[in-house]
Amino acid sequence: MKFVFLSFILPSSSFSFQVIPQSSRSFIDMALSSTLERVAPSAGVVPEWEEQQGLSEEQFMQSDVSKPDLSDALLECPLTLWDFENIDLTAARASAQKLPPSCPLEIKATPEDNAMGEDYFIKNKEMIRSKLVENGSVWLRNFSLPKSVSGHRTMTEALNLLPCLDPLHSSGLRKFASERDCLYEEVNKPSLRQHYIGLHSESTTKRTAAYASFVCFKKATEGGGRFLIADGAKILGDMDPELLEKIYKRKVRISVSNLDVPPSTPQILKDGFKSLVTSAVAPKFDMDLEMIYEADGKPGRLMAIEEMESPINRHPVTGQPVWFCNAHNHLRYLRDRRPCGVPEVGMTDVFFGDLGHLSPEECDEIKRVSEKHITAVPMSPGDVLLVDNYRTLHGRDVFEGERYHAVSWFSWEDNEEWRGNELRMREKDGLNGLVNKYMDWLPKDF
Ligand SMILES: [Fe+2]
Repeated sequence: MKFVFLSFILPSSSFSFQVIPQSSRSFIDMALSSTLERVAPSAGVVPEWEEQQGLSEEQFMQSDVSKPDLSDALLECPLTLWDFENIDLTAARASAQKLPPSCPLEIKATPEDNAMGEDYFIKNKEMIRSKLVENGSVWLRNFSLPKSVSGHRTMTEALNLLPCLDPLHSSGLRKFASERDCLYEEVNKPSLRQHYIGLHSESTTKRTAAYASFVCFKKATEGGGRFLIADGAKILGDMDPELLEKIYKRKVRISVSNLDVPPSTPQILKDGFKSLVTSAVAPKFDMDLEMIYEADGKPGRLMAIEEMESPINRHPVTGQPVWFCNAHNHLRYLRDRRPCGVPEVGMTDVFFGDLGHLSPEECDEIKRVSEKHITAVPMSPGDVLLVDNYRTLHGRDVFEGERYHAVSWFSWEDNEEWRGNELRMREKDGLNGLVNKYMDWLPKDF
């Protein structure tokens, strides 16, 4: 496995960009410009940092061993609920524009709330869960309970959230912070500090988590690392109608990996390599990948490309059409113009459904409208961001120093049909560990 991947990749792109030193810029209103400088995303809301103290790593990593080990039979990430036929885009834009700009809804703990501990979440479960669907995200600030792995699990259980695997779990690209609590690490690795993660839902064409709970145990010690969220309904409502119509009609295909072979390689060997990857590597990703040579025009490049999907989808619960597309994160044109520490093998791109290319102007419009609706959330230890994964897209800004954030994914606890009954038994994960070990240098943001 290692040999196959490492022997065919090109060195990382020699493309360079300018990163403005932290000391000379503000984290408020950061974004990208075509001059390759990181400047402000025109997010409308700029929350203040809180200085809430966290626990030591030894303390926050503690799991409650008196609770059952969830990894004995983990629930699979549910299949994506697609509902995109016959959407009236004019009506969808109008209804989205009428929605109040309320992503995220902020709930700040009082000392009395914190004194209640778990009981606060039991008592307010209905309110929090309904606000999550109504607003697309809920930011729980200054709570003491979720400052640790065990407290975070207690909170999510009090909210009746049902944990499931990450949609990409089978790839081995996802690492648990605590497997027995079904809690994954976010992209905290020092080598990816300066890697900007654009807006995306935790979703593939095939699988999509219903909800997420992003928790901060330790904020970036030297600044940055704000969590980015944006309302997919608002993005749809503000996108240029012509582009919206075009991309809805033509749909999209997302490329998730580049494997480069020398262009002079004889065709028979190229075909053999493609067969090998198709049969041995692609199935690991549980994504219905098609291996296609030179879709981006680069000689000798074998690209792993997802099936065609709609960039717009109706929300399974509310029926509201939303921008449900990971283009802001995956478009190569945008990645090449912002901090991106990904080797070529992990670079992604987005095509129209017929593998046609988006123009630079179209990529810029997706960037503009996405970043217009970003709220950059400065999370402190114990802060939790509950996200409706079908409505709200997420990402992460660059940071300095060390941080520790984690995330749990959730299925549909109240709808058996949507949840499915797939369980992943522990023994299936042996190969995952192996893949994870060898591929740990890849970013885990797709
Ligand atoms: Fe993510």
